[in-house]
Amino acid sequence: MTASTTEKTVSAEELLLGKALEYERYEGHKPLALVHSYGCQQNVSDGEKLKAMLLRIGFDFTDKPDDAALIIFNTCAVRENAEDRVFGNLGQLKKLKEKRPELIIGICGCMAQQKHVAEKVKESYRYVDLVFGTFAYGAFYEMLWEVAGEHKRVFNQSDRYGDINEELVQLRDDKIKAFVPIMYGCNNFCTYCIVPYVRGRERSRKPENVINEVGGLVRDGYKEIMLLGQNVNSYSYGFTSLLRQINEIEGDFRVRFMSSHPKDAGFELIDTILECDKICKHLHLPVQAGSDRILKAMNRRYTVEKYLEIIDYARKKAPDFSFTTDLIVGFPGESYEEFCMTKELIKKVKYDNIYSFVYSRRSGTPAAKLPDDISDKQKGLWLRELILEQREVTTQWLGRFVGRTLRILPTGEGRKGEGWLTGKSDEDMIVEFQGDKSLIGKFVSVEIVKAMNWALEGKLI
Ligand code: SAM
Ligand code: SF4
Ligand code: F3S
Repeated sequence: MTASTTEKTVSAEELLLGKALEYERYEGHKPLALVHSYGCQQNVSDGEKLKAMLLRIGFDFTDKPDDAALIIFNTCAVRENAEDRVFGNLGQLKKLKEKRPELIIGICGCMAQQKHVAEKVKESYRYVDLVFGTFAYGAFYEMLWEVAGEHKRVFNQSDRYGDINEELVQLRDDKIKAFVPIMYGCNNFCTYCIVPYVRGRERSRKPENVINEVGGLVRDGYKEIMLLGQNVNSYSYGFTSLLRQINEIEGDFRVRFMSSHPKDAGFELIDTILECDKICKHLHLPVQAGSDRILKAMNRRYTVEKYLEIIDYARKKAPDFSFTTDLIVGFPGESYEEFCMTKELIKKVKYDNIYSFVYSRRSGTPAAKLPDDISDKQKGLWLRELILEQREVTTQWLGRFVGRTLRILPTGEGRKGEGWLTGKSDEDMIVEFQGDKSLIGKFVSVEIVKAMNWALEGKLI
């Protein structure tokens, strides 16, 4: 950052702080911001950074739109329904803005990075003051001042990103689990996916910055660290080496990471997971489809055979090794036979969980130009078939844990009602058991007594 931009940032920051203090003197409380993040953990992590910036300029937070002086939706563009939800929620704010014209409304994140979205908001959502994409966080104070102090509408879809800004800290809502981005962006250009266009090319954080941050979080009492990246195993300073260094950090904590791209996930990654006691024995390995023709059309750059080699290697060394995945049904031109190959694959792999999505056309991606001749109804039926198939796999496969003792990190009250706690095992299984709320945030041992189709039930030891 140049000296002049630093000066500008400081001055916008000071002006905003002054305005917030004035508001507090007049209203008797700090101005309140509502920041709502949609989409993946990476976006949630960006939302936490935005909150930290707002805290610095005198804001407090609310989840009630009626109480907010500033509302920001941090958006996701990965599927059409994610975008529709944001436009729907934005529509509901129109009345609020009419009642309180001084309310500032903004959208940011992946959806707001797209120029056609910015145009739509400019024309059809005239009560929205601020629209900025994923590369504009560094200019947040200047943009907010232009809106709050100079009463302008601001649109920033800049596609220029500089070095990773290590000064942007996160204001974490969770006190047990923490997200730590290790890289940003994606170079893979899967033909269906908008992410490379809205998040730019891959940039990795320096290992020492990641390690310092994890060390600080562990000292602050965090028990689970989730390393984030669109493709963590293309971390440019060596992902397995980073895992081993994090594993050396003293303390009672465990580490997860996501997502791993199968084209870069090799035996070394499995060996590292198995050799490092703090790394969870679980891998989220999105396969997307069970047919080589569709994988090629998706530009995934692996075959089903290559994918299964990783699964087999892990399961030979650790028969319980847990895998989860992402799947897309109804990619343009997918036949029913090809869809059935995805069903076959989930039976073969025995995933502990799947995240399955109906293909959504994203304008600007190569797949958007292909004829999408499968009806929405058909895609919906295939999705249902897939979910039912997985339900059967899960119920049987989870049975392997019955009678065993697992280490659980309880994170809240259970779905089974009063007196029950819920948490996840190191293998990423949801486990419900009876216990006192004081155990939340502490590792406990639980003997598994029953497998349900969505979770395990256990008894505290
Ligand atoms: N980088 C991760 C990877 O490749 O494994 C995935 C990140 S993406 C944000 C999460 C998931 O959304 C993908 O794995 C894919 O299943 C799904 N997805 C992405 N684009 C999609 C689209 N156009 N339609 C439906 N699902 C999509
Ligand atoms: Fe999207 Fe593929 Fe990148 Fe994942 S690896 S974010 S699916 S382009
Ligand atoms: Fe994440 Fe959605 Fe953006 S999944 S990277 S918030 S498009």
